[in-house]
Amino acid sequence: MAGLHMMEHPLVQHKISLLRDKTTGVKEFRELTSETAMLMCYEATRDPPLKEVEIATPLAMAKTKIISGRKLAFVPILRAGLGMIEGVTSLVPAAKIGHIGIFRDDEHNAVQYYCKLPEDIAERDVIVVDPMLATGSTAVHAISKIKEMGVQNIKFMCIIASPEGLEKLMTAHPDVDIYCGAKDKGLNENKYIIPGLGDAGDRIFGTK
Ligand code: URA
Repeated sequence: MAGLHMMEHPLVQHKISLLRDKTTGVKEFRELTSETAMLMCYEATRDPPLKEVEIATPLAMAKTKIISGRKLAFVPILRAGLGMIEGVTSLVPAAKIGHIGIFRDDEHNAVQYYCKLPEDIAERDVIVVDPMLATGSTAVHAISKIKEMGVQNIKFMCIIASPEGLEKLMTAHPDVDIYCGAKDKGLNENKYIIPGLGDAGDRIFGTK
């Protein structure tokens, strides 16, 4: 059953507090984004089925388990989602990575400017990553695009979400599990999350 999974783990909460701090510099911000994404990915990858295999250890044969089932692809929403990729691929190094570039126009509508997804994406489970779920329009658009490619099982991971963004995403895509580090108060007039952490892309890439 799909739903909202709030990440209560103390390490996640601690790292989010450091991310929020305006005195956190670009190097530390980038590292914290990656580490938070890795911890959240651990939670988001609890459900793949296991199969029993036999492995020769140096001493004996062992009946043991490996992950079976569909392979994984991560899709960061450009550009801030890129900051989560190192963390998630440190846990699942063989995952393929697609990219979707979406910006919000003056009316805050989602406009796609780039999309490059793995050719075999329909055979994979997909985790879409974006540190900030603000209005929800970019996440809804990205997930619709991925569904159009035939993907059956999609999850969404964000570090901070607004209530408005969560509502919009859960209404548009009720089948998508959402993994979220913190749910904040709401959006300001420029559609930034309050209190949030500012512009995640600028803080990851040091552009402001
Ligand atoms: N994107 C960000 O980087 N920050 C916000 O608060 C909202 C959208």
